[in-house]
Amino acid sequence: MRTLAGKTVDHIGEQITLQGWVLARRNHGKIMFLDLRDRSGAVQLVGDKSFDARAEDVIEVTGTVKKRPEPMVNAKVPTGTVEVEISALTVLSHAHELPFPIDTDGYEINEEIRSKYRYLDLRRPRMARNIRLRSHVVGFIRNFLLERDFVEVETPVLTKTTPEGARDFLVPSRLQQGKFYALPQSPQQYKQLLMVAGMERYFQIARCFRDEDPRRDRAYGEFTQLDMELSFVTQNDILELTEAMFTSLVKKFFPQKHITHTPWPRISHKEVMEKYGTDKPDLRKDKNDPDELAFSWTLDFPLFNEQKDDDFFFGSGKAKFAPSHHMFTAPHPDDIPLLESDPMKVRGLQHDLVLNGFEVGGGSIRIHQPEVQSKVFDLIGFTDMQKQEFAHMLTAFGYGVPPHGGIAPGIDRLLMALLGEPSVREVMAFPTSASGTTSVMEAPSTATAEQLAELGISVKSAAFTRPAGGQEVYDRIVSDITAEGAQFDPYEHEAVHTSEEAAKVRNTPLAEGAKALLLYADQKPVMVVISGDRKLDTKAFKSAFGVRDLRMATPEEVEKVTGVTIGAVPPFGHIFGIPLYMDAAIRANSHVSFNAGLHTRSIRMSQSGYEKLASPIVGEFSKNA
Ligand code: AMO
Repeated sequence: MRTLAGKTVDHIGEQITLQGWVLARRNHGKIMFLDLRDRSGAVQLVGDKSFDARAEDVIEVTGTVKKRPEPMVNAKVPTGTVEVEISALTVLSHAHELPFPIDTDGYEINEEIRSKYRYLDLRRPRMARNIRLRSHVVGFIRNFLLERDFVEVETPVLTKTTPEGARDFLVPSRLQQGKFYALPQSPQQYKQLLMVAGMERYFQIARCFRDEDPRRDRAYGEFTQLDMELSFVTQNDILELTEAMFTSLVKKFFPQKHITHTPWPRISHKEVMEKYGTDKPDLRKDKNDPDELAFSWTLDFPLFNEQKDDDFFFGSGKAKFAPSHHMFTAPHPDDIPLLESDPMKVRGLQHDLVLNGFEVGGGSIRIHQPEVQSKVFDLIGFTDMQKQEFAHMLTAFGYGVPPHGGIAPGIDRLLMALLGEPSVREVMAFPTSASGTTSVMEAPSTATAEQLAELGISVKSAAFTRPAGGQEVYDRIVSDITAEGAQFDPYEHEAVHTSEEAAKVRNTPLAEGAKALLLYADQKPVMVVISGDRKLDTKAFKSAFGVRDLRMATPEEVEKVTGVTIGAVPPFGHIFGIPLYMDAAIRANSHVSFNAGLHTRSIRMSQSGYEKLASPIVGEFSKNA
């Protein structure tokens, strides 16, 4: 039933229905012009002024497609020869005023704001084009490789460390408390194991995770590689395949661009450093030409660099050598004897793909002899424990491993360079900001006490700042409630010190009062919340949570842990960095009221809103007072 805006030119004289967003609105007195945008483009709508909608509203329009008179034709837009005469318009959903304009290229807008409202930023034509193009490029690569006998394999994300020179992201295990998964910095080990498995030609559009400082060509946290590995190949085979793939990709999606040097120059590391002072030279002839693409290969890297302090994750810290690429890269066969006599002189069979001065890919021929791999482990100073971490590779290589090698072009970085974008974040849908905050959802966030308890993790209180004093506690509660988007009623009243007094001055039922008690459970401070009209059942609490020793905190301890005095302690644990337990009877009331850090301030809010914010561990541990 729906016609796309871009197809209207095929329906002249017909009645059609369109659905989409109001791109623009022009009120010419009696006549109203609206531009409607959908995934296919935009088209002009025209009607009398009763057909109105605001920018970015989602509308449905029925109307007739009319050819525009010659002087009204707009040659700049594909649908510029037609307009749709509105006969009915329904607003399907209203839009607030957007936090920033989306008809500009957006570079001028603060990145944090763009990131917070990324779903709006992606409506921007430039961003929409980048994300769609990315999808087509990935589709092309996938087809190109599948046609050439490659197998696409998904490898685990919850895994063990695979060092590529950055810090790992760790994920705590619940089933094996105290142990951690590492997110892969690349699928390097799995793809080599797939060669042992006989897959011969593997690829994956693989997500890689690296905890390293972001730069314009480096995303924080995660990015995507086209990860490939091939058996029974030479380095030349890998370079030729990559060159053929990206050359046809450029032809298909960037026909206006031209590649400066073909075949792509292959330059040794020694030469490139001498000539250009960098291993990723920008070989464009005219750096102001936006359509110039200068690809090149950098080869014959030294296998090792001198080990530095920031190579801390390799070796025992006492070794002289660190892998220049990664520890699975094969030494040049002619240089194997040098591993004994002069390791710094050994060349590696590494290849870096360079485009306009960016390293857009890296790979190598791998070590496939267990004894050479052991030797490299020794040279980079692996301790016995570290060797044990990679013992599975040596074991696997003991069962018939084909000679193999591969490459991993970075999809984000490649697209950034191809599109001439200033940062990899411009080609990612939901990139993490430079400060490591994810877009829209703003992770990382705190875990609930319950989650941490399940994982056997306690967060060092030093990592967290407790508000200093009652006023700061109050402000913190108000800002947390507001951030959750919850409603609350604030009260200011005479100073109160008990639940009974508080209920009276607030004129709220005693049962609605959330009484916060600081206790020590097996010597650790915990916050316990019960209804104002009930009493703590110590026995029930101990048995519910397997606590052996439970006692009330002294007034001094209350001040030490919460920074506020007895009677003003609010029913939250996260503010003080301690676990919170809530008695289930609290749920009997639609609202909770509590003193919020000060004897003269209270807050009343819905029970569900409170529970969402406080994320308590819930149990039954109260009795009638
Ligand atoms: P390497 O670490 O060189 O090799 O990574 C390969 C390519 O991935 C891209 N890349 C990045 N892109 C965006 N943000 C980042 N933080 C980031 N880090 C890397 C680059 C880089 O060239 N396992 C090996 C590959 C192999 O040996 O086959 C590897 O990961 O474009």
